[in-house]
Amino acid sequence: MKDAEKLKIMIVGTGYVGLTTGMALAYLGHRVTCVDKDTAIIDKLERGISTIYEQGLEDLLKETRSRATFTGSIVDHLPGTDIVIIAVGTPSKSNGDTDLSYVEGVAKEIGLALDPEDPPVVVNKSTVPIGTARRVETVIKEELEKRGVRCALSVASNPEFLREGAALHDTFYPDRIVVGAEEMQALNLLRQMYAPILEQTFNPPQAVPRPEGYQLPALVTTSPTSAELIKYTANAFLAMKISFINEIAGIADKVGADINEVAKGIGLDKRIGPGFLQAGAGWGGSCFPKDVRSLLFTASQYNCDLELVRAALEVNRRQRKKVIEKLQEALKVVRGSTVGILGLSFKPNTDDIRESPAIDVIGELLDMGARVKAYDPVAEEKYRQNYPGQEVVYCDTAGEAARESDAVLILTDWDEFYHLPWKELGESMKNKIVIDGRNMLNGRELKTLGFSYSGIGRQ
Ligand code: UDX
Repeated sequence: MKDAEKLKIMIVGTGYVGLTTGMALAYLGHRVTCVDKDTAIIDKLERGISTIYEQGLEDLLKETRSRATFTGSIVDHLPGTDIVIIAVGTPSKSNGDTDLSYVEGVAKEIGLALDPEDPPVVVNKSTVPIGTARRVETVIKEELEKRGVRCALSVASNPEFLREGAALHDTFYPDRIVVGAEEMQALNLLRQMYAPILEQTFNPPQAVPRPEGYQLPALVTTSPTSAELIKYTANAFLAMKISFINEIAGIADKVGADINEVAKGIGLDKRIGPGFLQAGAGWGGSCFPKDVRSLLFTASQYNCDLELVRAALEVNRRQRKKVIEKLQEALKVVRGSTVGILGLSFKPNTDDIRESPAIDVIGELLDMGARVKAYDPVAEEKYRQNYPGQEVVYCDTAGEAARESDAVLILTDWDEFYHLPWKELGESMKNKIVIDGRNMLNGRELKTLGFSYSGIGRQ
């Protein structure tokens, strides 16, 4: 076995997954080359500036300088590489299928530059449909054939389960690591790459401390196909769990129960577990919506109807309308009113706005003739750039968004919203109405301050 310190790893794609994984592996002692076609990204990373908002990442960029290289070229840096990790984007096509053109483009370049005497293990980390490990192998082999060379190839599937906003934490302290590989050599090399994490032999970075009581993660070894299905199943299950509690929140509303109490009451059952039972405006982000649609598409190709997964998507769509309905109930007439939106990102601790509930909710409010003011601690710039057509008054503080508003609508559970001076905010509002789309505030306290408060599945 090669010395763990000396593994040479190439990661293609410097998005959330690629950059976080790359920096974590470099921190653990490996030599890492991060590749991205976007020269502006490479330029920034080289200067130690993080291109994504993720706690602790910039520190790691600085700390790992001697072991990390940033480049735009796979071909120039591939020779001598032990493992190439593909972590490029896999966007959704309009029919729910997955666009694999970036993955296949990378596979082609690997085939162009690979040294047949010493081929690297190729690893799919991008979330890809079932069969993609084999597809990548075929594409690389086609390129090798064009070059007139042949060699044995290992393409493994190693899905990630990291959450945005906690990406480094989830990389250093995962619940499990899944490796789908056919060949022992590929499995052994990946085990070696992850050894410091599997055995927790590293000193935790200052910004990412080891959680108290953390248990060593399991290494789950499977076939590439099972690994690919594990990734989709995990995301579909979590999305379904949230949609389930959101559906129950609808009944809680009708019968006068509190969904937070219900979630606590069921979550303590070990078979159910407490996570992902927070009712609210629903799920968004770069993974759940895309992966759920992709799983449904794959299933349809096999004539398999995933009714529960389909329903999860539908409940999630309805959930966004629920927030508007709550607002209508409270305001009666939406046209001509001013609504202060708190939170634009799809969840807290990230500036990511992909498939954020805010997009649909703000769009609908504007269509209904409301004036929308919005505040987000970090996502405002991204939102403004991506939705220039939405006529939103952007605010620098939550207080500004609330001022002169007829209602405040919370769409992201940012920590700072727990600690807002609600008494003052209320005094500056036209009507003291709070619609809590994340069930994060204490409704009773707000009511004593004279607010009309409404959560999702809470009185
Ligand atoms: C998710 C998975 O958790 C991760 O394992 C996978 O690799 C990528 O997709 P992420 O998209 O970063 O991660 O966010 P996550 O924290 O899982 O939240 C997803 C969405 O669900 C957010 O919009 C969040 O607000 C919402 N959510 C989450 C709820 O509405 N209720 C909950 O109880 C939990």
